[in-house]
Amino acid sequence: MVDDHKKNVVAIGICSILLVAMVVAFIGTHHDGKVVGNDSKDVSESMKAIQTLCKSTDYQEACVDNLKSSNTSNPKELIELAFEAAKKYINEAAKNSTVLQSLQRDPRAKSALDSCHELAERAVNDLQRSYNKFKAFDVSNFNIMLSDIKVWLSAAITYQETCLDGFEDVQGDAGEKMRESLKTAMELTSNGLAMVTEISTVLDSFNVQGFNNRRLLSKDLPDWIDVERRKILQAQPQQIKPDLVVANDGTGRYKTINEAMKDIPKNSDKAFVLYIKEGVYREKVQFNSSLINLIIIGDGPTKTRITGNLNYIDGTNTYHTATVAVQADNFMAKDIGFENSAGPEKHQAVALRVGADKSLFYNCHMDGYQDTLYAHTYRQFYKDCIISGTIDFIFGDSAAVFQDCTMVVRKPMDNQQCIVTAQGRKEARQPTGLVLQNCTIQADPEYYPVRNKIKSYLGRPWKQYSRTIILESFLDDLIQPQGWLPWNETFALDTLFYAEFNNRGPAAAKTQRISWPGVKELPANRVQRFTASKFIDADIWIPSMGVPYAPGFILPVPKEDPKVKYSPISPDENKDLGRERERTSFVNSPDKSSDPETDFEKSRAPAVAPSPDTGSSPHLQN
Ligand SMILES: *[C@@H]1O[C@H](CO)[C@@H](O)[C@H](O)[C@H]1NC(C)=O
Ligand SMILES: *[C@@H]1O[C@H](CO)[C@@H](O)[C@H](O)[C@H]1NC(C)=O
Ligand SMILES: *[C@@H]1O[C@H](CO)[C@@H](O)[C@H](O)[C@H]1NC(C)=O
Ligand SMILES: *[C@@H]1O[C@H](CO)[C@@H](O)[C@H](O)[C@H]1NC(C)=O
Ligand SMILES: *[C@@H]1O[C@H](CO)[C@@H](O)[C@H](O)[C@H]1NC(C)=O
Ligand SMILES: *[C@@H]1O[C@H](CO)[C@@H](O)[C@H](O)[C@H]1NC(C)=O
Repeated sequence: MVDDHKKNVVAIGICSILLVAMVVAFIGTHHDGKVVGNDSKDVSESMKAIQTLCKSTDYQEACVDNLKSSNTSNPKELIELAFEAAKKYINEAAKNSTVLQSLQRDPRAKSALDSCHELAERAVNDLQRSYNKFKAFDVSNFNIMLSDIKVWLSAAITYQETCLDGFEDVQGDAGEKMRESLKTAMELTSNGLAMVTEISTVLDSFNVQGFNNRRLLSKDLPDWIDVERRKILQAQPQQIKPDLVVANDGTGRYKTINEAMKDIPKNSDKAFVLYIKEGVYREKVQFNSSLINLIIIGDGPTKTRITGNLNYIDGTNTYHTATVAVQADNFMAKDIGFENSAGPEKHQAVALRVGADKSLFYNCHMDGYQDTLYAHTYRQFYKDCIISGTIDFIFGDSAAVFQDCTMVVRKPMDNQQCIVTAQGRKEARQPTGLVLQNCTIQADPEYYPVRNKIKSYLGRPWKQYSRTIILESFLDDLIQPQGWLPWNETFALDTLFYAEFNNRGPAAAKTQRISWPGVKELPANRVQRFTASKFIDADIWIPSMGVPYAPGFILPVPKEDPKVKYSPISPDENKDLGRERERTSFVNSPDKSSDPETDFEKSRAPAVAPSPDTGSSPHLQN
């Protein structure tokens, strides 16, 4: 660790020198590009720059329209202006949602518009923090800066989409009006994400030198390691000195979590521990975004339980059904159970919704039926958790990695079928997806006897670019041989991205898998980017949480098999990574000297013996 750290410091030192040169060039464009005293020349210079920048985006007209009134030709300033423009439009749409709301009588429409207002605020926050971070342009943390901004802008897109999701099955034109209202905002947010994702290309086309060295920066320093936090998390619950104690048997200072909430410090830069003693807490809990660095610890996931039963059928929109909602960055929960007990007949009923960047759940249970875990936005990590449910029970548009977790399929209604995941990636540049690694997918004992009658699948595409990767996991015989299920007719079958890699168990055989273009057969070097270190920047933030995790593959990696026909790389496969050169260095030629995790041959010692992918299970014939 220490040695690595030293190496990093040296590497950063060297890189900083190169980067300072680059940034000088970057910021310098402004002065060089400007011809003082001739406004018409200014305008044409600026227009050229705008057109160059807008080339990287999908909505070029909206891009040019919203930048053309500016008179700078500095790409950095233009990108900042693009963020600002997106923010302005979302704000306007939020205001319009209030106006629309006053015109509605249908309570579902009212409630959907209410959510839109809240979601628009969250999107605006993400644009604002992206703007701030980009403006500050932290040279020593260039890659971290880019990842952060990509994740946040992606969330800003998701929040707008979630607003529109709220109008499903709502009568009247409110949904259509809201869609109209968000159109430009959505386009500009997407453009912002494109500009940042393609930043090396953008800067190259502005003749900004130095970006060729970007690869050198791939090992940024981790965040500060909070020693206190580490100690806290490695201790046994009885040894932890919590900052606040909740106990519904009256032995703590508070009887409910909501009572304690008001005494949790806002915007704390240190870990703050809320200990929730054994008991069943029947309350709706929301950890707002100001409660950063919060740790909640229970007495175990079957002992400390937070439960509720809000649900879609009884009139709450999916977003607001969550028993517990987490919006506080750097959040961590340990030894706690989250539940929505509404039951399968109540349809969507979320137990836990997570929209918190760098959030972590360790030894937790999430129990529900339809839509149990809404892994909504940002980077999330789940370790040793048990998640139970029926339909789409892990869904959302975060970048989430599940390690050593168990997904338990429960018995649904007779006319339903079960789907473990419904990932909701809307755009190809969003760095999001669900990754299940060394997990177990199994049937609940009550469901087990009927698993061949009421069928189960690995996932289905909630949105156009739905992305789910299941690797090094155990798939029990409840999963249908076709593996994946369509959402609606042919929707997203070409654009989704589903891969299974090095799995084992009776349902791991892929011989009868459905053959949509989006269902991929991948060699290890194309799966590696979905492991924790690369996909959610785990090495930057999980060490400070003190939770064990695997940064890369955990099983010995199988060699490329000449008999296997691998899927060709489609243009969208790595669109979220940015330009060709970075992609190549990322995907095709892992840099073995600097990153041992990428060295497949020296992979970590196996904890679980891999079993071959061949032969179909007799249990599956039905
Ligand atoms: C400004 O530049 C334009 C062309 O870029 C030129 O036609 C015009 O004469 C210039 N005006 C002055 C005052 O220099
Ligand atoms: C153009 O730039 C100048 C100086 O940079 C500034 O004073 C002026 O207000 C700008 N004009 C517009 C239309 O933004
Ligand atoms: C908001 O509503 C006003 C008035 O109906 C309209 O002119 C404006 O274009 C709307 N804004 C957006 C972003 O849709
Ligand atoms: C924070 O959470 C509470 C519920 O716990 C909610 O009533 C309140 O509006 C939230 N505040 C903000 C600023 O989101
Ligand atoms: C894989 O998961 C199992 C069961 O959750 C666990 O016991 C094992 O330690 C995990 N293996 C590794 C290498 O993490
Ligand atoms: C399913 O797709 C068809 C077009 O393929 C569309 O008309 C219909 O509205 C969709 N249904 C749902 C429930 O989304």
